Amino acid sequence: MKQYPAAIISSREAMPGTYLLWLRSLHVASGAKPGQFVMVRCGEDNELPLRRPLSIHRIDGDGLALLFNTVGKGTRWLSQRQKDEPIDLLGPLGNGFTIYTESRQILLIAGGMGIVPLVYLADIALKHEKRVTLLVGARSAAQLLPEELLPRGVTLVTATEDGTQGYQGYVSELLPDHADSADQIFACGPTAMYREMVQRKRGLGLEGKPIQISLEMRMGCGLGVCYACTVRTRSGLKQVCQDGPVFELDGIIWDEMIPD
Ligand SMILES: Cc1cc2nc3c(=O)[nH]c(=O)nc-3n(C[C@H](O)[C@H](O)[C@H](O)COP(=O)(O)OP(=O)(O)OC[C@H]3O[C@@H](n4cnc5c(N)ncnc54)[C@H](O)[C@@H]3O)c2cc1C
Ligand code: FES
Repeated sequence: MKQYPAAIISSREAMPGTYLLWLRSLHVASGAKPGQFVMVRCGEDNELPLRRPLSIHRIDGDGLALLFNTVGKGTRWLSQRQKDEPIDLLGPLGNGFTIYTESRQILLIAGGMGIVPLVYLADIALKHEKRVTLLVGARSAAQLLPEELLPRGVTLVTATEDGTQGYQGYVSELLPDHADSADQIFACGPTAMYREMVQRKRGLGLEGKPIQISLEMRMGCGLGVCYACTVRTRSGLKQVCQDGPVFELDGIIWDEMIPD
């Protein structure tokens, strides 16, 4: 896999501690698919040898957007980069989501930063004239991506744990009102959300629905070399970086997944 330099077009704090970075990278932008990710080199002079995995948030022409929380050394370094600085990226990596041609109504459910790849998926679904409902959950209103940064044309429903915006409770509790009419469901969020979807399938109205999820695992290489991201599935051991990060919800052996 070749590495390609990307230049920063813009960077700004989209929510407290969360940065929206637009980069120019024709290679990634022209080959990307929703649900794929890039491995970003963070830090100077190999001070952080492992690249950081970040989902592709949006594509516009030869531009690619990343949206990330500052949680540690790597993401803090990335948040401090300025316009025109070069960033070293590997990607696009992973398999990505698949929208079936025959699907007309798409339901997306995002828990926390799970919104990142689902915005790109919504963009593509809308482009293919699908109807898109987006359920978004966060701890409180301050952690919800501002509405002007979401694709125009989606039906948006929000939930916050503290009730500061939308429904008060977990975003999965919104599923019974929306799952029935969906031809396909796509989810991105914490393991606890997926477990809830598996364990309360009937109660949440998910029985018989095709559901694709994006898994987040700690990654070393992102290239299928280090086996750090191995997960047990119904068809054997898989590497999230290469065989995923998108899997069928029912394909994962959830009893063996370590909680976030
Ligand atoms: C496929 C994929 C897509 C992701 N997309 C996004 C995104 O779009 N936005 C976002 O905010 N976060 C995303 N994450 C999580 C993000 O990769 C971590 O928050 C980031 O690597 C932390 O790096 P750090 O140096 O700031 O933190 P540190 O904790 O200092 O990182 C130390 C090491 O742990 C690894 N690491 C730490 N947390 C994670 C994690 N949750 N997942 C994988 N590796 C981790 C780092 O890569 C690094 O090697 C994604 C993770 C995966 C696996
Ligand atoms: S991160 Fe190294 S094999 Fe997946």
